[in-house]
Amino acid sequence: MTTSSDLLFSSFSFGPLSLPNRVVMAPLTRCRAGEGNVPTELIARYYEQRASAGLIVSEASQVSQQGTGYVGTPGIYTDAQVEGWRLVTDAVHRAGGRIFLQLWHVGRSSHVSFQPDRQAPVSSSAVRIRAGHAHTPEGPQPYSTPRALEIHEIPGVVGQFEAGARRAKAAGFDGVELHSANGYLIDQFLRDGVNQRTDRYGGSVQNRARLLLEIVEAVTGVFGADRVGARLSPRSEYNDMSDSDPAELFSHVATELSERRLAYLHVVEPLEGRALDAPERVTPLLRARFRGAFIVNGGYTREAAEEALRTGAADLVSFGAPFIANPDLPERLARRAPLNAPDVSTFYAGGPRGYIDYPRLDEAQPAAAGAG
Ligand SMILES: Cc1cc2nc3c(=O)[nH]c(=O)nc-3n(C[C@H](O)[C@H](O)[C@H](O)COP(=O)(O)O)c2cc1C
Repeated sequence: MTTSSDLLFSSFSFGPLSLPNRVVMAPLTRCRAGEGNVPTELIARYYEQRASAGLIVSEASQVSQQGTGYVGTPGIYTDAQVEGWRLVTDAVHRAGGRIFLQLWHVGRSSHVSFQPDRQAPVSSSAVRIRAGHAHTPEGPQPYSTPRALEIHEIPGVVGQFEAGARRAKAAGFDGVELHSANGYLIDQFLRDGVNQRTDRYGGSVQNRARLLLEIVEAVTGVFGADRVGARLSPRSEYNDMSDSDPAELFSHVATELSERRLAYLHVVEPLEGRALDAPERVTPLLRARFRGAFIVNGGYTREAAEEALRTGAADLVSFGAPFIANPDLPERLARRAPLNAPDVSTFYAGGPRGYIDYPRLDEAQPAAAGAG
């Protein structure tokens, strides 16, 4: 008899990849990169510990200095960064895993202190983030007002992603995910709460999707479409984002990405207690339009993940915070074992603490037994 648990721990193939289970590690910024935004041995150990995931999507990695918005995030635009990432991909592959790099440009979520010559960060339009603060080397600061990219500069931005994909390939990644979610540069073009352009990159949904599709064309030219995924967050308000009609916009985007035969679509839409097919949810509309592998994310438990797979709402489910605290998450889910609780205070700082010291199930048992 097939049970729902057989689905979460059954294999899945897309393109040239064969995944041993459907438990994906979501991209998680941890701010542990070394000097020059270079990945280190510490980062390699962290990913190696999590290599039992069906697929790891790396933390977001900026494609340029212009695309940087946080302290300690790794880059993918220098030779030293490629060498650092090679430590990570080698460690994950040795441990039997697969890993994609998440390509990132933060756009207006930056601050002048990260920019060359303290220039203004760039975006689709000169609309500043009002909510929250930029996390600068000098501590929290109000976000800088961005400047709108000139139309002649856009090929250069596409080129940053293309170069990032080339370097990701040189570093040994199995593929790349475009970070087109969570209010960063690509999302700043997609959604009309920010994008006020009147040229061919603004206005209609076709125009607002243009930057993403140009980046897709460039990056699939490097990796092949079957090794490229994209992440979308159709209703997220993070980074002061909004859109007048997310269902229309993101349905168009899913259709276009499907035509370009992208390996997967990774959709972030927190469940927040709603049914998977609740009418306000955008995810089911995208599932219906996208033919490749479909990954869902946002507050999934083992039970919700199984339901998503059983009902055909998704092919794969990604887990964020649970993977921070549980290096052996697939095994714990399979055995219905208790999960370690994540320590929020070490999400973005703390070196090895709260990073590579969460116990595996077989390490946790002696500690628990020691109490008796
Ligand atoms: C510490 C932390 C860092 C994150 N960094 C990224 C990131 O680099 N890229 C990204 O697309 N999402 C990032 N996210 C969002 C997660 O990938 C995921 O969407 C979110 O945690 C919800 O999934 P969960 O409920 O399973 O944790 C981050 C989330 C957390 C908690």
